[in-house]
Amino acid sequence: MVIPKHIAIIMDGNGRWAVKRGFSRLIGHREGIKSVEEIIKASNELGISVLTLYAFSTENWARPLTEVKGLFRLLKIFLRKKIKELNKKNVKLKVIGDISKLPEDVIKEIKSSIKETSNNTGLILNIALNYGGRQEIINAINGILKLNIKSVDENTFEKYIYTSGLPSPDLIIRTSGECRISNFLLWQSAYSEFYTTNVLWPDFRKKDLMDAISEYNRRNRRYGGI
Ligand code: FPP
Repeated sequence: MVIPKHIAIIMDGNGRWAVKRGFSRLIGHREGIKSVEEIIKASNELGISVLTLYAFSTENWARPLTEVKGLFRLLKIFLRKKIKELNKKNVKLKVIGDISKLPEDVIKEIKSSIKETSNNTGLILNIALNYGGRQEIINAINGILKLNIKSVDENTFEKYIYTSGLPSPDLIIRTSGECRISNFLLWQSAYSEFYTTNVLWPDFRKKDLMDAISEYNRRNRRYGGI
């Protein structure tokens, strides 16, 4: 079986998982962290190079403040509790998106976690935070404009996006049955295989990841050729 180098996941369905059980949406996000932990572990064991997780989009600010605050709190607790273990497992943390808008204490936790794991050479755990594909493209254009050049090629553009230096995602998974890209990795997803499952993110386990990888192996990637 071919293991994709880069898997990116739109972790959807936390809210529905909780509401279905009569819980608050935040409980769904808290349960979602358990899936995050299992999928990081599985990705590491499988020898995947990059795992990108869409944790907070530029559009998620429109949610109630309690949910937004709760999500950042969960992220902070996750890093606090897990970074030592991830470090031991040679996982390297990376973040894509504009984190400057996040609460100060969360930014601090992210920066120290990135620093702590910066020399690691194993799985790259790439968390998308206050990330939007359009924002990323505009941000890259603004960076390139400062170069005072007349035209730009793909290689130069690639240097200015958040994922610079990373391979494009081979496989993008979205849970909860939705079939949208939702402003995720717009440039990078040009030739990604897209996989959706009805499983809600808090129920997503290693078996579900393996199902996605099996389906990926049945796809015939032609990159526009025949
Ligand atoms: C989408 O479900 C999920 C999110 C917007 C947040 C995902 C965040 C986590 C799983 C926790 C933090 C992540 C890390 C990496 C520690 P939804 O709320 O849109 O679900 P719904 O569509 O059912 O309402």
